[in-house]
Amino acid sequence: MTFRFALAASTALSVLGSAAAFAGPQAEVLHWWTSGGEAKSVAVLQQEFAENGGTWTDMPVAGGGGDAAMTALRARVLSGNAPTAVQLKGPAIQEWYDEGVLADISGVAKAEGWENLLPASIAGHMKCGDTWCAAPVNVHRVDWIWANASILAQNGIEMPTTWDEFNAAAEKLQAAGIIPLAHGGQAWQDATLFETVVLGIGGPAFFQKALVDLDESALKSDTMVAAFDQMRTLRGYVDANFSGRDWNLATAMVMNGEAAFQVMGDWAKGEFLAAGKVPGQDFLCASTPGEGYLYNVDSFAMFKVAGDDNVAGQDLLAKLIMGKNFQKVFNMNKGSIPARTDVALDAFDSCAQLSAADMAASSASGSLLPSYAHGMALYGPQSGAITDVVTAHFNSEMSSADAVAMLVAAVANSR
Ligand code: BGC
Repeated sequence: MTFRFALAASTALSVLGSAAAFAGPQAEVLHWWTSGGEAKSVAVLQQEFAENGGTWTDMPVAGGGGDAAMTALRARVLSGNAPTAVQLKGPAIQEWYDEGVLADISGVAKAEGWENLLPASIAGHMKCGDTWCAAPVNVHRVDWIWANASILAQNGIEMPTTWDEFNAAAEKLQAAGIIPLAHGGQAWQDATLFETVVLGIGGPAFFQKALVDLDESALKSDTMVAAFDQMRTLRGYVDANFSGRDWNLATAMVMNGEAAFQVMGDWAKGEFLAAGKVPGQDFLCASTPGEGYLYNVDSFAMFKVAGDDNVAGQDLLAKLIMGKNFQKVFNMNKGSIPARTDVALDAFDSCAQLSAADMAASSASGSLLPSYAHGMALYGPQSGAITDVVTAHFNSEMSSADAVAMLVAAVANSR
């Protein structure tokens, strides 16, 4: 009873003198979970919220990666009408905090003991100054390859462990008339592919230098040229209709046997599972070539809003998000693994178990890295500058050397 929820409820009751005046916890929730697997996952939270007396007003803004949702958020905040709860992550949480618009949810975090339930790396993203300002839902891994199991078996192909092996498999598939790589030509998807290539070709220390520290010598290195070379090679493995395609439609191509592979975070697994597909049988998962683990933690931040009902809604939501059972059920649907460290993974599929094992190993070896493409590593203008170059290169005949020169200039201008 130390939450703002309890306080708000009791204040409302004593001030207004009647239980009816307090309509109960309310939340307008801005998120971008609109694909089949995503919708199934967020429904778990909606249901728990309702079961606990809350009224959920849904504000879904379609668009993978959340760019459209973030544009909608800015418009709402600028008009002085922020949503109560927003799917927000990484440094963007701090950016909004610095604008003075985030609510402090430390009361819930302390009462529920979040400090002891989260790895320090995740907790760090949820804190702003001395306060807790966001609640984590999960850990998505970004550096995955998904494959259609029967296409690989029919063509005598194993899951690739190097980009050269990937290229050899893709050439073989192409010769057999199969689309090697299902890809959606949207900037954030190009960025997703690119960061896995940088990790695989450069290794974890190079990734850290180039895409987290923005070290100029790494950005202009031959290794970065080689990463763009591989992007050019991959461009040759996508079908003619890739431009603008949504990520879940690319996943469906792998599912339906129209394409062999997709490189995408494990929200793609949420799509396979929602369609009743079984890992190891219908589809295969493996980390993209090379060492390391690119993490992407979904979280919700609460915005400063008026009204006891809204404050109660925020506290209830924050509490439910970190609930043990919620973290299990939600993540089994979403394709991710729980943010909480004390949730047993026995009921999770083999890809989730691999993710958890690799995350622990990467954490121990120092190769657990924030995803730049999914807003975990950089501020918006910096990641946007990189993605613009990646997309411009992927969608033209630009040379790798020109892309690298453009990258160095774009990053310098974004600082
Ligand atoms: C989010 C995932 C989401 C994916 C596709 C990622 O940035 O972290 O939760 O499923 O975008 O929309």
